[in-house]
Amino acid sequence: MQYDNDGKLKHLFSTADLSVETIRKIFSMADNFKNNAGKKTLENKNICNAFFENSTRTLCSFELAEKKLDANVVNFRSDVSATNKGETLTDTFLTLQAMGFDAFVIRHQEENFCKQIAALVDDVAIINAGDGKNEHPTQALLDAYTIAQHKPTFESLSVGIFGDIIHSRVAGSLIHMLNHLGVRDLRLVGPKTFLPKKLPYDFIQTENNMNTGLKDLDVVVMLRMQRERMTQEVTPSSEDYFAQHGLTEERLKLAKPDAIVMHPGPMNREVEIASDVADGNQSVILEQVANGVLIRMAVLSLLLD
Ligand code: CP
Repeated sequence: MQYDNDGKLKHLFSTADLSVETIRKIFSMADNFKNNAGKKTLENKNICNAFFENSTRTLCSFELAEKKLDANVVNFRSDVSATNKGETLTDTFLTLQAMGFDAFVIRHQEENFCKQIAALVDDVAIINAGDGKNEHPTQALLDAYTIAQHKPTFESLSVGIFGDIIHSRVAGSLIHMLNHLGVRDLRLVGPKTFLPKKLPYDFIQTENNMNTGLKDLDVVVMLRMQRERMTQEVTPSSEDYFAQHGLTEERLKLAKPDAIVMHPGPMNREVEIASDVADGNQSVILEQVANGVLIRMAVLSLLLD
């Protein structure tokens, strides 16, 4: 459970049962940090970022957020850790707990890994920074926060998520987030092999044809092909993929003229998105990155203050 018995957020594993009240509170705290009105709340708090998969945006923005809040920050390095000398991950996290950490920010390839660690250690807040192809809740929060800065209400929005949906933890968390905030036109668009067979909500539509999927959208979310998570699928070449499923300026004209283009990163230019779209005036990709720091400051403050 990520909420305690009093309804306070204790961990952040998933967006599935995140209340709208919590989401709005996090947005309001992020607004305060943006306006330099948020308090530095984490003096004397000890935070360990334990990433077992590669990261640029999530790791660096968590570290920056923690330092802006005056926390003591340690980045656990799995590549040089004692796990390479046979120590189990259970012993690793019990060891880190004994050092007095107040929070672990964890990225791991195994789904629900954070829940296992939360069951192992007491009084340590756990934040999921991406677990396999399951969820990436702070990414969904920063994505929704970015949308809210451009579009007045979620209820009337048409949103499309494009590409490799089944391997994407970003999509996993964003779908729940958009549902909570009231989006009812949500399209998952991509090759058949990249679309889920089971959908979490009845109102979601799936579409293989990119041009049909783009029609009159307000928000276009592009995802990369996660080749590192693919097992059996026959992956198209980058050239074939771009020809059929890449977002070009020409295709983007099918969406509304004021549609925004998002991408959680890392981007593969000229594979899922053309450079002129990624760098164009409808792109909010770098705003997403900037908002990531504010949202992570808000989440850390909410959990630890
Ligand atoms: N969006 C995202 O998770 O990027 P990184 O892998 O760089 O953290």
